[in-house]
Amino acid sequence: MKSVLEANITAGQRVLVRCDLDVPVARREVQEKYRLDASVETLNYIISRGGFPIIMGHMGSPGGKADEQLSTKSLAFFFDNALGVGKYELMENLRFNRGEEENNPQYARQLSANGTIFVNESFATSHRKHASIVGVSEWLPAYAGIRFQKEIETLNLLLGDVKRLFVIVIGGAKLESKLPVVKKFLKRADFILLGGKLGMEWEEELPFNLVIPKDYAPENKDIGKQTIADYTEIISRAGTILWAGPLGAYEQPEYSLGTAEIASAIAKKTQEGAFTVIGGGDTITAVNSYSLLDKFSFVSTGGGAMLQYLAEKTLPGIEALNKRR
Ligand code: 3PG
Repeated sequence: MKSVLEANITAGQRVLVRCDLDVPVARREVQEKYRLDASVETLNYIISRGGFPIIMGHMGSPGGKADEQLSTKSLAFFFDNALGVGKYELMENLRFNRGEEENNPQYARQLSANGTIFVNESFATSHRKHASIVGVSEWLPAYAGIRFQKEIETLNLLLGDVKRLFVIVIGGAKLESKLPVVKKFLKRADFILLGGKLGMEWEEELPFNLVIPKDYAPENKDIGKQTIADYTEIISRAGTILWAGPLGAYEQPEYSLGTAEIASAIAKKTQEGAFTVIGGGDTITAVNSYSLLDKFSFVSTGGGAMLQYLAEKTLPGIEALNKRR
């Protein structure tokens, strides 16, 4: 995998950059910009070399249809400020076209015609075999973004010898993608604490190091008080913590207690010297609303991508970059 820092960028060259644009937007305003910030170093590097970044990415899951609410137009204000007006081009939400998620070769080729080299700066989507992640690299010289490499370097620290206890907290939705990962992590972690819907849907016999909630808040929309106490006690003994996915429906204040308490418990451990890694769009949004985003050793832009990388030690987006030199 080559870094964008090794690319020979020439004056006026159009550089197609796949970014993480999947951020929460309300009334056309970006509510949480961590993922956008993560791509700025690469984009400004390209501009400093005389290149012209063509920014592409997806927002939400519009299912192949245009949806004004999910238009990347809402992000222009951010990029105008971060990069300068006229210094870049921003493409429309790629998932307005079915070809993106289907990794349609013709669509990938069409995308690749927008630039002469390709940079993947979208770690958070690199677990998807989509046109802008894997397809485009069939047509263009392909490089990893600066942040993309930082994500991998940092997550690799969790794959070696880690300070014990190694505690993993997994919540959120997207159950089908998380259960296989949980099973793999059971071999490496001292404890895995499940929240969100995952705990309720665990049907097999409980392994000794897998902990599911003992109680829930009303309507099962958050973990209950006893579970919060049990989880924070285990976290208090950790040397390394990995967390992905809110523990409940954090966007409703009455169901955000579990997520807020777990966030505070992990932040406290960072201060005490534990190595703490959190990740994922919803987790970032939740933690940011508690003003704790800078209280962890590392915040990964990826949720599903982070977990899959840690389980498989690779991702389709990494394989695509390794194949194409
Ligand atoms: C994410 O939010 O994890 C990434 O943007 C990937 O989104 P997806 O799960 O809709 O593919």
